[in-house]
Parts: sequence; structure tokens; C-alpha cells
Amino acid sequence: MAQEVRGVIAPGKNEPVRVETIVVPDPGPGEAVVQIQACGVCHTDLHYKQGGINDDFPFLLGHEAAGVVESVGAGVTDVAPGDFVILNWRAVCGQCRACLRGRPWYCFNTHNAKQKMTLKDGTELSPALGIGAFAEKTLVAAGQCTKVDPAVSPAVAGLLGCGVMAGIGAAINTGNVGRGDTVAVIGCGGVGDAAIAGSRLAGAAKIIAVDIDDRKLITAEKLGATHTVNSRATDPVEAIRELTGGFGADVVIEAVGRPETYQQAFYARDLAGTVVLVGVPTPDMKLELPLIDVFGRGGALKSSWYGDCLPSRDFPMLIDLHLQGRLDLGAFVSETITLDDVEPAFERMHQGDVLRSVVIL
Ligand SMILES: NC(=O)c1ccc[n+]([C@@H]2O[C@H](COP(=O)([O-])OP(=O)(O)OC[C@H]3O[C@@H](n4cnc5c(N)ncnc54)[C@H](O)[C@@H]3O)[C@@H](O)[C@H]2O)c1
Ligand SMILES: [Zn+2]
Ligand SMILES: [Zn+2]
Repeated sequence: MAQEVRGVIAPGKNEPVRVETIVVPDPGPGEAVVQIQACGVCHTDLHYKQGGINDDFPFLLGHEAAGVVESVGAGVTDVAPGDFVILNWRAVCGQCRACLRGRPWYCFNTHNAKQKMTLKDGTELSPALGIGAFAEKTLVAAGQCTKVDPAVSPAVAGLLGCGVMAGIGAAINTGNVGRGDTVAVIGCGGVGDAAIAGSRLAGAAKIIAVDIDDRKLITAEKLGATHTVNSRATDPVEAIRELTGGFGADVVIEAVGRPETYQQAFYARDLAGTVVLVGVPTPDMKLELPLIDVFGRGGALKSSWYGDCLPSRDFPMLIDLHLQGRLDLGAFVSETITLDDVEPAFERMHQGDVLRSVVIL
């Protein structure tokens, strides 16, 4: 029997979000219905609302979520009702060219639920990142559910489902940060701060945080930055070189997604160093660099999609490290709110007042 629950939809381009009744079908083959306990507010939800991702309105927003599996469809064996799970947007297929080459974190054919959730009048909803978790319950592909230790608080666990995983993974998976490395992170929102926390976890010797907002630099220090640079006041390339013996950092992580900050990252790394772009640019942005510098400085210029994570490998590990006290995921939760408060939470995010607002259900 389909169920009716409350959920937050974006009805049309730049229209305010609103709480509506959502019809959630019973799980079909390979699907699961999850009772959501917490869901973080991410920049990507705002992009959906602004029409920046695509025009498939109405969207069911929310995708950084944790909850308990309520029911599963035929053929589902990896999770069962009662399991505490984090939802992911990388349910790997096992059969695409990336999966077949043993690189499932690049999977080009990830799974979502086949059935649609709808409004009461039958209008089909597009769930954000195939999840749609600003809702009491949501329907996903079973592979989007990753079991983790239920001792963790849902508000904290859900954040690994997107931005925090993207940042940690940008450092430890894409950037391959290791013991003794010097790292600089440009842009210290939720994603950049997670890259800082990931670098600390990986044993980086120096972690330089760069932002234009002093409030962000204070949080960055709490998460592991050893040095901070306000790039409104100081040239970040010079400052990073000065802090690294005149050479530049081994790994520079760009977590803003703009050409000028990418250029800073490019020149702030040591010869043969690595740039990781985890910030998402808009389609109109262009980058101009002397090709001789691209050649002459060597190293690697990489992009990081979802922190090159493999949810089944990375989520349980990171939750265990958090429970050991080695990864402070709680520091990312600035406030907890209800389903009715998503619109003002977007405004606070836009003003830079919060790292993450988390909806508790
Ligand atoms: N690659 C992925 O898979 C992935 C996943 C999630 C989010 N993201 C992207 O990561 C980026 C950051 O996300 P977030 O949630 O941390 O956003 P956010 O808005 O919380 O953080 C951005 C930070 O950048 C700072 N900033 C802005 N302009 C700057 C500049 N010129 N120089 C230095 N700092 C500057 C801001 O002060 C802020 O602290 C976004 O582009 C987001 O879309 C990528
Ligand atoms: Zn695949
Ligand atoms: Zn997100």
C-alpha cells in the first residue's frame, strides 16, 4: 500500500519551497523505503530550486540523509527492515566500463528507484540526486542504502551522504594525501572543512585554510587547519608558498568552484604537486592558463566527483573513526531544524552563517 508522508518540494524555478503530501509507493524489486531521521541542507538543493541543475520540476529536495529501512522489495539482500543506513547517490552498477575495470567509484550507470514518488494529484516528483529525503519517508534503490554502526547520531551520519564525504574523499581518495604532506584548502565551507578534516586524518603535516570570511577560518582551525589565510587581505599564493618553505603545497584542494580560485590552487602547489577541484563551476565559466605552466609545473590536475567515494567502503569506516573520536563530524552540524524551516535555512547558507543546517524528522 502506497503511503502518504510530508515532504519539501521545489515547485518551480526560484519559487519558495513548500511542504506537501508525498505519495511513496511500496518498494518494487531492488528498491527500499527508508524512514528518514535526519537530512542536511546542501548547496545542491538550492541549485535544484534555482533551476541550476535541470528543469524537471517539481523536485523533492534533500539528499544528505540517514534513517532506518522500513521495507524492501523483491530480491533485496544487502539491507533489511530495521537497518540503520546512510543514503548515497552512488549505487554502483557493477557492469559499466568503469566498474568492469575495477574502478566502481567512477561508475557511469548508478542506480535509483525505478518507481516514482508523486504528489496526491499524481504529479511525478524528481528526487534530488535520486534521493529526495526532506521527507518522512523516501523510496530509493536498495544499493543507495549503506549500513553503518547505529551508535552514531543520525544528524551526523547523514552528512556523509554528500558534502562531507565529497570533501574528505577529495583529500584522501582523489588527492591521495598522506603522512607528512603539506595541504592547502581554498574555500572552507562544509566541503572544504571536510577536506581539512580528511587531511588531518591522513596525517598531513601542514594544513593551510584559505577563505574570504574570517568566521570560516575559525571553524577550519577547529577541524584541523594549522594555518589560515584570509585571501581578501593577503595574496593566497604567496602566503601558501611562504608557509611551505617557498615551494607551495603538495596538494591544493579547490572547494569553491571558480576560475580565479582554481588559478590560485594551480600556482599555490609545489612542482609535481596535485590540484583537486571539488568545487562545482557553472557552465559559463572559463579557465585560461599558459600551457607552458601546465607542462612545466608537472604533477596532476584532478577533479573529484563525490570524493571518489565508494559508499560501502568509506561510510562504515568514517563512522567508525568518528565513533573512536578521530573525526569530529559533529562540528559540521551548525543547527537542527524542522521540515518547515528549509527555506530560511537556504538563506542562512547563502549568507555563510552555517556549515550545515540539518532537518530532524
Ligand atoms: N564534487 C562534488 O562531488 C561536490 C559535492 C558537494 C558539493 N560540491 C561543491 O563544493 C563547493 C563547496 O560547497 P560547500 O557546501 O562547502 O559550500 P559553501 O558555500 O558552504 O562554502 C564555500 C566557501 O567558499 C568561500 N569562498 C567563496 N568565494 C571564495 C574565494 N574567492 N576565495 C576563497 N574562498 C571563497 C566561502 O566563504 C565559503 O566559506 C560547491 O561548489 C559545491 O557545489 C561538490
Ligand atoms: Zn558501474
Ligand atoms: Zn549535497
